[in-house]
Amino acid sequence: MKNKGLIFSVAVIVVVLAGSLFAFELGKRNSGNAQSEETKKVSILQYVSHPSLDDIRQGVEDGLAQSGYKEGENLELEFQNGQGDQSKLATMSQQLVEGNPDALVGIATPAVQSLANETSDIPIMLGAIADPVGSDLVDSMERPGGNMTGVSNQVPIDQQLDLAKELLPEAKTMGILYSSSEDNAKPQVVEAEKEAKKQDFKTERYAVPSSNEIQQTIQAMDDVDFIYIPNDNTMANAMSTIVNEADKKNIPIIPSVDIMVEEGGVATVGIDQHELGVKTGEMTADILNGDDPAKTPVYVYDEGETYVNQKQVEKYNIDLPKNLEDEAEFIDR
Ligand code: TRP
Repeated sequence: MKNKGLIFSVAVIVVVLAGSLFAFELGKRNSGNAQSEETKKVSILQYVSHPSLDDIRQGVEDGLAQSGYKEGENLELEFQNGQGDQSKLATMSQQLVEGNPDALVGIATPAVQSLANETSDIPIMLGAIADPVGSDLVDSMERPGGNMTGVSNQVPIDQQLDLAKELLPEAKTMGILYSSSEDNAKPQVVEAEKEAKKQDFKTERYAVPSSNEIQQTIQAMDDVDFIYIPNDNTMANAMSTIVNEADKKNIPIIPSVDIMVEEGGVATVGIDQHELGVKTGEMTADILNGDDPAKTPVYVYDEGETYVNQKQVEKYNIDLPKNLEDEAEFIDR
């Protein structure tokens, strides 16, 4: 009788212990993401260095970390910068693909195009791409169809030109300054021309082959009341020259990017560049966790924030409407 009791007690203890061990293991497996024990590799290719792309790149790392992928813990990060050079981009893309990462991230259109030439298997994340469909990277925004998905920073050109009209009511002619060598600029130029018509602005195209021609191009602008700059990497890289020359001729700039406002544009409606990167990083984590890029819609922002450079507003004697004074974010250097 005594023995029976003992055996029973031991049996109960064994069952309870085994049960809790099992529950503990199960709990461990279900907490956080299952992949965190396994190291993943992400390789980033940035087209060129300019403040916006640098912010986006930092954002990608932050977004990955917020989603549970931390460098040195469960994430190996490789990074290359093409310095705006097509042949460097090609060599770097080849190297990055040979390293066989779990996902690639291309920051700016030329970087993604170059990666896409090297692989149609490894997922490629679009890092702030102006026009993924127009640049032939995906079938559609809803259903990309191949190995690419990510974030588009298609800019709200209609809202930007509304703002131009509000701030510069006397302006008649808009000069569009862009690079003739970037695929991402052209569709935006066409769109800007279309939107300009609605505001009764005449437009002049000023396409430059490289940043070397910017100075003389601005010096030769006649009858341009303000300059519009699309999401163009060559222009972003040369923003200080542009602002310098435009200020000399008293031509205000309405750019398409918050950071270009900070550097001397008057105002824009745009998307925070770091946030673009964070979103790209978060989507990269989803792909690492098993989502299929072909079926993951490209993320597009439908609302921008208004950014104003107070110094430039004063320089150009612009009357800031009351609603903007309350709502806009003021940034300058
Ligand atoms: N959208 C650009 C491209 O597709 C890249 C980009 C993101 C960019 N943010 C920018 C370019 C700010 C100029 C300024 O290549």
